[in-house]
Amino acid sequence: MKKNLNFLMMFGLCLLTACSTPNNGSSSSEVTVPLLKDVYANYFPIGAALTENKISLYEDLLPNFNSITQEYEAKWSITEPLEGQFDFSSSDPMVEYAKENGKGVRGHTLVWYKSLPRYVLSDNPSKEKLISRIENHVEGVINHFKDDVYVWDVVNEALRDYPSLAQVESGDFYRTGDETNDATGGDLFAICGIDYIESAFKEAYRVRQENNYNFKLFYNDYGLNYPNKREALLKMLDQFALDGTPIEGVGLQAHYYLGSFNIDEFENTIRSIVERGLDVQITELDVSIYPYSTYPITYDEIPESLSKIQASMYGQIMGIARKYSHPENDAYGKVTGVTMWGVADDITWLDNNPVSGRKNWPLLFDEFHEPKQAFWSFIDLDKYGE
Ligand code: XIL
Repeated sequence: MKKNLNFLMMFGLCLLTACSTPNNGSSSSEVTVPLLKDVYANYFPIGAALTENKISLYEDLLPNFNSITQEYEAKWSITEPLEGQFDFSSSDPMVEYAKENGKGVRGHTLVWYKSLPRYVLSDNPSKEKLISRIENHVEGVINHFKDDVYVWDVVNEALRDYPSLAQVESGDFYRTGDETNDATGGDLFAICGIDYIESAFKEAYRVRQENNYNFKLFYNDYGLNYPNKREALLKMLDQFALDGTPIEGVGLQAHYYLGSFNIDEFENTIRSIVERGLDVQITELDVSIYPYSTYPITYDEIPESLSKIQASMYGQIMGIARKYSHPENDAYGKVTGVTMWGVADDITWLDNNPVSGRKNWPLLFDEFHEPKQAFWSFIDLDKYGE
């Protein structure tokens, strides 16, 4: 791979499309900017979350990515807004765009408590009724997209945010709503227990096998570097194994903060998943420049010192992702993709999450679509090892 990169750097003009002039006043020294997907060609696809209205805005940067995730168009409230009435009008144009431009599509997501239309729970359904709604939804969506997606996040965020050790030990680690005040998250579990999760996976598997589709089945969540939540995940996977629930990989959302990231725990999480023979994808990567979610200060621009720390974090994250992309043990899973949750800092969901109106700069390209320090360390294959 090193050889390949050198080749790209030296002779890349035919392959590399973007050019930029560094902000050092010297217009004579042009820096050639490689495409992310080319740098990572020997590792895994590099993706970005996208909405249709951003396709033209990011025309300059989208060649960097060979995978896309629909930021909300494939979620339940959009694809089946009324029971049994599927609507793919928001989502189809993006999938077409991806196909025409040689990009894969990550399917995100079939069952997520935050994107349920009202009808799913509003009539206080029995367990049987709720599971049949879930199965119908899973089947309808999968049969629409067929093999236009290469992976489905079958269930998103089913685990508690911060389970205590006692909760992990007693098996009380599924999202119930009591910690998040989110009634819908709690209701799915209150009505069905873990069966709502397992039914979704089993149904997705059934439909895939029946139709010979090729996509993979993933569970997707955040906070999995937190040891208790990682333990909860592993226990859930044990339960899946006992119950014959099929799963092929785990998505680590990877919405990180400068002040609360531990590279060793990140590696521990990846290792513990791949050792079970499951793949890992980093599915929603961004690095907030605020040290933690409720940090009280709002910056007008990204301070240089934070820019550096952010860049180094990106470098370390990608070093670990590369390290686990080529397993030595055949029985192990591997890292099979990294997706950014957005394209450039001019538009990021973090401008309004978790603090409304707090500008953030979490991505690899700045507001003017120029590569940031974070970009350069993301592609620095040498510095951060393999
Ligand atoms: C977010 C989108 O970015 C927002 O635009 C939307 O309003 C809410 O959903 N975890 C996930 C993603 O799995 O689907 C979420 O995306 C971000 C958190």
